Amino acid sequence: MSVAAAARPGLLALALALAASSTLAHAPARRSAAELMDAIMWNRETIGGPFALTDQQGRRRTDADFRGRLMLVYFGFTACADVCPGDLQQIAAALQQLGPAGEAVQPIFITLDPVHDTPARLAQYVPHFHPRLLGLTGTAREIDQVASAYRVYYRTVARPRRAGDAVDHSAFIYLMDREGKYLGFFPPGTPAARLRQVIQPYLGTP
Ligand code: NI
Repeated sequence: MSVAAAARPGLLALALALAASSTLAHAPARRSAAELMDAIMWNRETIGGPFALTDQQGRRRTDADFRGRLMLVYFGFTACADVCPGDLQQIAAALQQLGPAGEAVQPIFITLDPVHDTPARLAQYVPHFHPRLLGLTGTAREIDQVASAYRVYYRTVARPRRAGDAVDHSAFIYLMDREGKYLGFFPPGTPAARLRQVIQPYLGTP
């Protein structure tokens, strides 16, 4: 047996290992919408987790900043025509209905279009809905990480006849407890009254 022949299985294994690691490094696993929806609908996977992003004032914010408060987390993009604004309006209305007790809830809007949704753009957008709505953006990688942690489906799609791209995205509203742990989700289009009804019991004495 020649030295080259003896080395071959080792080289093959090395080549496979390199191929696998380069696939992981260059093509982050893009999960299908159905797979991500199943993960949420059937409670198959842990939802949420640590994040480090930039708010509409340019400040770095992490999930730890909101310990002791509930988080109501929503993902979208500011150029979204109907689904995002509708859900953000319902979130704002629910907070209004909760009154002063609702101040224990931190509403958070995380963009899925970090290229266009800069802190300045978010600063123009979020106050339209609620004075306490926090807008978060980040690098593409940071947004990928937080979206993946919340099992959010999103894809940028070209809009040939209109300016700018659109982001096709899932639109669940996530409710997280005072320790940042996942409590549950609301489907897109959930009315304010229903949000209030579910959140209210969590606002008692902590
Ligand atoms: Ni949207």
